[in-house]
Amino acid sequence: MEPVRLRSGREVAIRPIRPDDAPELQAAYERLSPESKYRRFMSGKPRLSTAEARYLTQLDGSDHHALVATPARGPQSILAVGRYIRLLEHPEAAEFAIVVGDPHQREGLAAELLERLAQAAREHGIKRFTATMLADNVAAHRLVRRLAAGGMVPHGDGAKVAVERHLGALDEIDVELAA
Ligand SMILES: CC(C)(COP(=O)(O)OP(=O)(O)OC[C@H]1O[C@@H](n2cnc3c(N)ncnc32)[C@H](O)[C@@H]1OP(=O)(O)O)[C@@H](O)C(=O)NCCC(=O)NCCS
Repeated sequence: MEPVRLRSGREVAIRPIRPDDAPELQAAYERLSPESKYRRFMSGKPRLSTAEARYLTQLDGSDHHALVATPARGPQSILAVGRYIRLLEHPEAAEFAIVVGDPHQREGLAAELLERLAQAAREHGIKRFTATMLADNVAAHRLVRRLAAGGMVPHGDGAKVAVERHLGALDEIDVELAA
């Protein structure tokens, strides 16, 4: 697997999550700041249960797909996770979510994960990504704007349109993925 070099110069490996990642996923969750936990999961709970970790790591790769970033060398700690889950009621759409460990934020890791998730989603017939995020989550909004502009997708044509619906403290965002 080719290492990916981030803006900071850090090299990471990006690969699909595996069932044996469950304990490290729980540990990575516990390492998140309360703010990052809340922004990702809309809840401040301190840890992921074994059942939750199992649900988040035992995937079919088509309707539920997740990528992890780990250091390119050394201990295989999880630095970031990106995931999409197909919407049952709209099978051409999927909800995505990304979380990057606090010490590794602002290095371009989320953009890299989202690009790869969008590529995988297209390959599985998904045409639209949706996400719900806190209205004041500037980083997540900028991430979606990048995807909508298509500026970060060297493997394809990128995505086209982002539609935002404002729901009080939350924004629901739809991004159309180009073929
Ligand atoms: C949102 C999150 C995933 C972004 O991860 P990241 O690896 O830091 O993002 P990137 O470095 O790829 O940057 C993506 C964009 O966000 C911007 N950004 C990142 N952190 C930012 C911050 N703290 N404030 C303002 N903008 C920020 C970057 O500048 C970039 O925008 P640009 O292309 O217009 O310059 C990360 O902050 C995080 O995990 N937050 C907690 C969980 C969360 O909010 N998840 C979103 C739910 S979908």
